[in-house]
Amino acid sequence: MTPRITINTLFDMKRKGDKIVSLTAYDYPFAKIADESGVHVILVGDSLGMVVQGDTHTLSVTMDEMIYHTRIVARATQHAMVVADMPFMSYQTSVETALANAGRFLKETGAAAVKLEGGAAVSATIKAMTAAGIPVQAHIGLTPQSVHQMGGYRVQRDEARLLSDARSVEAAGAFSVVLEGIPADIAREITGTLTIPTIGIGAGPHCDGQVLVIHDLLGITDRHLPKFVKQYASLRQQAAIGIKAYVQDVQNNAFPTEAHSY
Ligand code: KIV
Repeated sequence: MTPRITINTLFDMKRKGDKIVSLTAYDYPFAKIADESGVHVILVGDSLGMVVQGDTHTLSVTMDEMIYHTRIVARATQHAMVVADMPFMSYQTSVETALANAGRFLKETGAAAVKLEGGAAVSATIKAMTAAGIPVQAHIGLTPQSVHQMGGYRVQRDEARLLSDARSVEAAGAFSVVLEGIPADIAREITGTLTIPTIGIGAGPHCDGQVLVIHDLLGITDRHLPKFVKQYASLRQQAAIGIKAYVQDVQNNAFPTEAHSY
């Protein structure tokens, strides 16, 4: 059996130039498919709020919801590293609260790491977590929990700030950093500067790896897809075909038949 991916595997991959594949999952069946399909890092993202709970942002997601979803995702995996996303206000109020919440993910779910949004502003928190033995994936650029502060979901172009945030989270001990919604040339520069792997989403092809939201990739969602998404399947359409056929069969007495009866 292939060994479990760890932060050391990811460091080796960056050194060798092997691309890291990350994908979100929120439940057992899709986490199992992702794990069996060779995804290296499964992120239980707080995008849960948008693609599973139907909200327009991620701000309302709670710790208890993330614990529940991370636990069922971790249960489905044998190979991928599972990263739990820290929801809004689970780490911003104090380092102590952040540590306690990050610790819950490792103690209660089977996740091997946590992710949090922010650069220099959360470096002290990242430092405390890594000192406590909790691997942290940072997330800079377009940080959806700051949607109101950014004035919407906007591409972030302040190169000096992005580089300084990237250096700051690396110095604080993050094992990786998600670069979201930034120009490809800035992502290339950050990727060349850092020794930790960069994982891009809407950050071009030069990152050490890529991450996508599984509902976008599989065409499950009816939300507007951002430019950076490539849709690899149309599961929403397939599901509607199946469900409509079931509705018709029941209404026409075509299901169940003798073959489905005792
Ligand atoms: O919540 C999420 O799914 C994320 C990824 C898009 C990086 O943060």
